[in-house]
Amino acid sequence: MAGLAVNIDHIATLREARKVNYPDPVAAAVLAELAGADGIVCHLREDRRHIQDRDVRLLRKIVQTKLILEMANTSEMVGIALDVRPDLVTLVPESREEITTEGGLDLVVQNKSITETIGALQNNGIPVSIFIDADPDQIKVAHQAGADMIEIHTGVFCDAIAEPQRKQALTKIVDAAKLAKKLRLGVNAGHGLCYTTIKAFKGLVEIDEFSIGHSIVSRAALVGMDRAVREMRTLIEDLDN
Ligand code: PXP
Repeated sequence: MAGLAVNIDHIATLREARKVNYPDPVAAAVLAELAGADGIVCHLREDRRHIQDRDVRLLRKIVQTKLILEMANTSEMVGIALDVRPDLVTLVPESREEITTEGGLDLVVQNKSITETIGALQNNGIPVSIFIDADPDQIKVAHQAGADMIEIHTGVFCDAIAEPQRKQALTKIVDAAKLAKKLRLGVNAGHGLCYTTIKAFKGLVEIDEFSIGHSIVSRAALVGMDRAVREMRTLIEDLDN
């Protein structure tokens, strides 16, 4: 059965909207774990718009499942990762103007510096995942660069409205997951997944873990974190049946 890693960035977004000390993403992480999350994800952005350095350090102490740090490939972030030692680093593209991560990393273009970062983290015992589009060329380069895992960008599929586009995007994800497994890469998937789109992944055993944030935090605002995580957990369990 696939795992569920819960991204708690938007609990911090709510806190930063008022620049106060609540709601605390660390408290959200504890509740998500109690409700069955297999991992906690946070994205420390260069502009610190939601998660703060203090959150990452506290999460490292408190998370009992695994802590996944999403970050851009910069020397500042590599330094923080080497210091905090998350259980997994997911390298993502980042630009200040974007509302959220837009598209996967282009490994074909940034191959050399990504390969160096992967080596630096792995040499210190930190496995590395690369967030990429469902594109066979990117997957092959991720493999050559020495990544432990990839995270397949599911946003195009989740945003597609017309059925042919949805189907095409899903087929690309399925093919990408199968290719990555053939290359013995771990396979995560995420971005834009919600309580409806998750159902499309039924029977796709190649996906090890889903990384989901916005839809869970949004639902949690209305029904509570415990119920929001349990409901998503149940949907992921049903993918096997
Ligand atoms: N995976 C990656 C690499 C992301 O950048 C994000 C958003 O921070 C997610 C997964 C989670 O996406 P969402 O918040 O849309 O569930």
